[in-house]
Amino acid sequence: MRMVDLIAKKRDGHELTTEEIQFFIKGYTEDEIPDYQVSALAMAIYFQNMTERERADLTMAMAHSGDMIDLSAIDGVKVDKHSTGGVGDTTTLVLAPLVAALDVPVAKMSGRGLGHTGGTIDKLESIPGFHVEIKTEEFIGLVNEHKLAVIGQSGNLTPADRKLYALRDVTATVNSIPLIASSIMSKKIAAGADAIVLDVKTGAGAFMKTIEESKELAQAMVNIGNQVGRRTMAVISDMSQPLGRAIGNALEVQEAIDTLRGEGPEDLTELCLILGSQMVLLANKASSLEEAKQLLQEAITSGRALDKFKQFIINQGGDASVVDDKERLPQAQFIVEVPAKTAGYVTEIVADELGTAAMWLGAGRATKDSEIDLAVGLMLDKKVGDRVEEGETLVTIHTNKIDIDHVIEKIYDNISIGEHAEVPVLIYDVITN
Ligand code: URA
Ligand code: CA
Repeated sequence: MRMVDLIAKKRDGHELTTEEIQFFIKGYTEDEIPDYQVSALAMAIYFQNMTERERADLTMAMAHSGDMIDLSAIDGVKVDKHSTGGVGDTTTLVLAPLVAALDVPVAKMSGRGLGHTGGTIDKLESIPGFHVEIKTEEFIGLVNEHKLAVIGQSGNLTPADRKLYALRDVTATVNSIPLIASSIMSKKIAAGADAIVLDVKTGAGAFMKTIEESKELAQAMVNIGNQVGRRTMAVISDMSQPLGRAIGNALEVQEAIDTLRGEGPEDLTELCLILGSQMVLLANKASSLEEAKQLLQEAITSGRALDKFKQFIINQGGDASVVDDKERLPQAQFIVEVPAKTAGYVTEIVADELGTAAMWLGAGRATKDSEIDLAVGLMLDKKVGDRVEEGETLVTIHTNKIDIDHVIEKIYDNISIGEHAEVPVLIYDVITN
């Protein structure tokens, strides 16, 4: 088999066979096929697309390019949740203990990564003592006994995707539905998921800026999952404004605790109930979505979800007293309130720009080696649709830096106040097959 023939075949709009896809992924992972040929193929795929069969083959070839995590020692259906990324997305911190409280096993492997705030692991590490450096056996034991554990990413997961994603980044081929869908799904499958709930974000703070593109990506991933025997469903949710009120690591842990107590922001709570219901259903712990949602609400009101979070913290070496005493979480030195300049209704809060403002405070990593300040970030006192009076606080800044004029300016530039109240949409669609 010759790579040049595969490139020509795809360039001319033909379908690659399973063997051809396996050939190029194996050859690329083993450094036998050079970047320039894979670049050309990626560009051909960008223009010619891939059939459902090709997408499933690409996903599985990439999943098998490195370690495949074996979670078969864990009882029950392992349902993984994946978000395509947003700003202040606290859902994982809430969902993990929430569904675990209903005996849905949550075996989460997480990374740090770049972004406006840290990843799930960074957020959890704002709890004093909490650590994710645990052995695989301990991880599996914890999930079997307590239904919940988080472990840091280790080993060699989907090296083909790592190489291909980096190459796409510099060859203008990131934005291709078959390539994005197979990239995301390969990682979930390699991480051992039996079933997958996808939260595909749409809007300014998301990877996909329009609802049409987001639906297409969601449908592509659901099709792949269902073709390769992993039941998959997707929710398309809003990321035009940040989710919840907190953007920052310790601030989001606090927000998750509030939400598990039933006192969280409305949008975050609702999205967690919707995603959680799908997870409970896929794990066969309820017979309908309505029943699943009711069980989740009971787990919150009875305190079981919060107890699960406490136990989880203790299991991984953390100080569970943070749950009842928020002062024990890292605190910023300075609190600065940003007042509204005019009265009216908040009509827009541009998610990615607010995320950047939080990153400037030190809440996220701009480069792989940046240090995160776990204490800092933003609290949105007002959200889209809220009434605000002149001088009333729009945003509260938690900072350890004094020179933050540029942050304040960015906040003002990206929050609009108008005359008419707009009702924000949270969920645009749910794709189940
Ligand atoms: N996220 C991924 O993991 N892969 C892509 O290709 C795009 C976004
Ligand atoms: Ca949030």
